[in-house]
Amino acid sequence: MPALTDSYGRVHRDLRISVTDRCNYRCTYCMPADGLDWLPREDLLSFEEIERVARVCVEHHGIDSIRLTGGEPTVRHGLPELVARLARLGVDIALTTNGSRLSALARPLAEAGLRRINISCDSLHDGRFAAMTRRDDLPNVLAGIAAALEAGLHPVKLNVVLRRSVNDDEALAFAEFGRATGVTVRFIEFMPLDADGGWTSAEVVPGSEIVAAIAAVHPVEPVRRGHEPAARWRYLDGRGEIGVIDSVTEPFCASCDRIRLTADGRLRSCLFATDEVDLRPTLRGGGDDEAIAGIVAATVAAKGPGHQIGQVAFVRPHRSMSQIGG
Ligand code: 5AD
Ligand code: SF4
Repeated sequence: MPALTDSYGRVHRDLRISVTDRCNYRCTYCMPADGLDWLPREDLLSFEEIERVARVCVEHHGIDSIRLTGGEPTVRHGLPELVARLARLGVDIALTTNGSRLSALARPLAEAGLRRINISCDSLHDGRFAAMTRRDDLPNVLAGIAAALEAGLHPVKLNVVLRRSVNDDEALAFAEFGRATGVTVRFIEFMPLDADGGWTSAEVVPGSEIVAAIAAVHPVEPVRRGHEPAARWRYLDGRGEIGVIDSVTEPFCASCDRIRLTADGRLRSCLFATDEVDLRPTLRGGGDDEAIAGIVAATVAAKGPGHQIGQVAFVRPHRSMSQIGG
């Protein structure tokens, strides 16, 4: 099987699939207050179509890890059924969710074959959480985190985006929440993928600053970095670890192994790509598996070197995070 390699020699093994662009939150750094125009339902790939693309990527290209994203993936009806279909491919299946529906869904998802989960949560203060997500829902998300742990999902990771003067005083509180509950906290630097286009580098809290604030209280040592985007640090006292996705201050593009499929069937070779390849004409026009495999290979072959955030050449993608899938 030929590995999915780009012109820079990076081998791609990780497929991220957005199952919907809809979301029940309107996080300030992701969506405008009145939301975005949702895709018409007929534009969404069906579960059969998603399963087919995933199978071709696994069988033809050696993809060994699949992550489901949104929008908010749990608002897509029947998500456990999709997980069950993908689990049959025999690869690692993960989910990124805002956690709002996990009280009810954690167990069915785990039973369907989900192993790992990332839950987004940017504040442990009710009022601030409500201001950031535009929904007063923190207790529900905390219950969702507990339900994920109870359902045996492992690891349970918490995705935290810290923004300067918004929630940058919560690094230590999140670290201590992780140490107390057994969830792994991962801090993600704020990226220029907000729907409002209001991103400025002044709002980015560098990962190095976050680690220093935590290490001053709970000493850490680095864990060797593999293909994953997170730089990891383990507590010297053995109480788990933290991760930092420092994509803005320390781009990890050189070791990126991800491709993305949007909810409407477009392949993206990078979160920050400004072009996409539409798979739907092939999927819906009778194209065979080889044709799909060929388009995936061509998309990866055309991948650029990296995102160039902060440089003159950087061009914002047309889609926001919720429309790409994170
Ligand atoms: N910068 C960084 N992270 C973001 N997310 C959403 N928008 C942004 C942004 N502009 C995060 C969410 C979620 C993950 C899918 O991406 O908080 O954890
Ligand atoms: Fe929804 Fe996630 Fe965007 Fe928040 S960041 S609005 S939870 S898609």
